[in-house]
Amino acid sequence: MTESIQIDKTNIPKHIAVIMDGNGRWAKLHGQNRLYGHGFGVDSVRDTLKAAVELGVEYLTLYAFSTENWNRPKEEVDGLMKLLVQSISNEVDELLKMGVKLSTIGDINGLPQECIDGLSSACDRTKGNSKINLVLALNYSARWDIRNAITKITEKIVIGSIKNQSVTDDLISAHLSTHSIPDPELLIRTSGENRISNFLLWEIAYTELYFTEVLWPDFRAKDLFEAVKNYQSRERRFGMVSEQLIP
Ligand code: FPP
Repeated sequence: MTESIQIDKTNIPKHIAVIMDGNGRWAKLHGQNRLYGHGFGVDSVRDTLKAAVELGVEYLTLYAFSTENWNRPKEEVDGLMKLLVQSISNEVDELLKMGVKLSTIGDINGLPQECIDGLSSACDRTKGNSKINLVLALNYSARWDIRNAITKITEKIVIGSIKNQSVTDDLISAHLSTHSIPDPELLIRTSGENRISNFLLWEIAYTELYFTEVLWPDFRAKDLFEAVKNYQSRERRFGMVSEQLIP
C-alpha cells in the first residue's frame, strides 16, 4: 500500500466511476471462457475498493451490467447473475467490517429475483456505514436513466406540480437514479477502449476521463493510484481560463 504515499491527499476525487472492461479478452489470453475472466474481475473489485478506502474516496461507482449486456449469450448472462449473487453474499461481512455502504443504480427490478433479494439484503445490512459508498450500476444505462427522468418530470408538469419554466439542470439531476450521488471527478475505463458506452452521460459533463490498457482482471490498487496521480496532474477549468482558478 506504499504506492499511495506520493498521492496528494488534499486533492482526492470524491467520486470515482469505473467502466470495468476486458474480462473476456483476459480470459481468452488465459485460454479460458469469458466467465473465468468475470470471476477474476471480482478480485479487482475487492482490491480497488480497498485502495479507494485507503485514499479516502467517498463514492466508487462500478459499471457491472448494462442494459445492453442482456444481448450477450445466455450462458454468460446467467453466469454473471450467479457471480453477482455469490459475490454479494460472500463479501457482505467484509463490506460491513470495512464500513462500506452498498447501493445500486439502474433498473434493479429487471434483474432475476435472486439478485434483487441478495442486493436488497446487502444494501439494507450496510446502510448504516459511511466510510465509502460502493455503487453498483446494474441493468443500467445513462439513456434509460435520462429517459426515466424526462418521463417523471413531464408527468409532474402535466399535473402542475412542476412549472414548465422551472426545468433546470438541478431538477433533471434530482430525477436521475444518481440523485443522491455527487458527479464523478474521475472516470476510469480499463482495457484500452476509449468509449463511454452509455455510462453516466449526464453526470460526466466535467469529469476527467482516464483510459488505461490494463485489462480489468489485472487492475489492482497501484493502477487506481496511477489514475488518481494522473487526475491530480490535470487542471480542471470548468469552461473558465487558468488565471480565474488561482485562489
Ligand atoms: C466487461 O468486460 C465486464 C462486464 C460486462 C462485467 C463486469 C463484471 C465483473 C467485474 C464481475 C462482477 C462484479 C461485481 C461488482 C461483483 P467484457 O466482458 O466486455 O470484456 P471484453 O471487452 O474483453 O470482452
